[in-house]
Amino acid sequence: MLRDSDVLSTLLRRKPDHSLAQDLYCDAGVFDADMAHIWYRDWLFSIPTCEIPKAGNYVVHEVGVYSVIIVRGADGEIRAFHNSCRHRGSLLCTAKKGTGPKLVCPYHQWTYELDGRLLWARDMGPEFDASAHGLRSVHCRNVSGMVYICLAEIAPPIEEFVAETARYLAPHDLENSKVAHESTIIEKGNWKLVWENNRECYHCAGNHPSLCRTFPEDPRAIGNDDSGQMAGLQESHTQRCEAAGAPRATAYRDSATGASCARRSSTRPRATRWTARWRSPSPTPRCRFATQARC
Ligand code: FES
Ligand SMILES: [Fe+2]
Repeated sequence: MLRDSDVLSTLLRRKPDHSLAQDLYCDAGVFDADMAHIWYRDWLFSIPTCEIPKAGNYVVHEVGVYSVIIVRGADGEIRAFHNSCRHRGSLLCTAKKGTGPKLVCPYHQWTYELDGRLLWARDMGPEFDASAHGLRSVHCRNVSGMVYICLAEIAPPIEEFVAETARYLAPHDLENSKVAHESTIIEKGNWKLVWENNRECYHCAGNHPSLCRTFPEDPRAIGNDDSGQMAGLQESHTQRCEAAGAPRATAYRDSATGASCARRSSTRPRATRWTARWRSPSPTPRCRFATQARC
């Protein structure tokens, strides 16, 4: 198992534009380093806000060893807390999702307000200070209808990403969309491998014939290569989006944290994709969107 310093030297030896060394996908020490330096430190997309539309709705989101409750308060705000009771550390929410007027610990029934304040704790004596025993917060940010959380003590800056992303997402009105279907896919592979696979469509023609009926796998067609060229299909799609009030999406650099991107990709002619159902009763613009924090 590699130590932190070995992980760094292996990483520094990587060959640009090639797969990483095997250890960086398979070694347990590398996995721990990934969790500590990336997943427990950076902002992570967790859920769309429409998954918890009403006060008291919550979901439990797990990141490595952490369990986080994301809950909508009586004031409509979405907050995140460590899913651990301040009494003796019992899991507070044992279901993956649910709803309730308060958060009640199943062990000794300490009861928390939806904003994390401790409301009730039985027989704790006159010296007990309930205000010092609220739930531990996790950084939480509503980014145009998408909830991001950060487990770090001090979260990295996110304002530039929030502002840039808002321009692209505003026309989709994600706050007022609904979850129509949900499926969970657990991929048995290191997260970097999954990510790399996601960033190329070189494998699509041979492996995703259904996808290729609607999605143009040519990187120039979806603005996914470094040539700066954009195929006519993507260009005309972009123009139609802009005419409908959905601004041109592009890759950009976040000055504080590195690269981020927001991209609006075209489909093949006559194909239709839906990502969100709008409240408008009339036929809606058809746009596919993809956003990523620090890709
Ligand atoms: S551990 Fe939660 S009330 Fe005791
Ligand atoms: Fe694939």
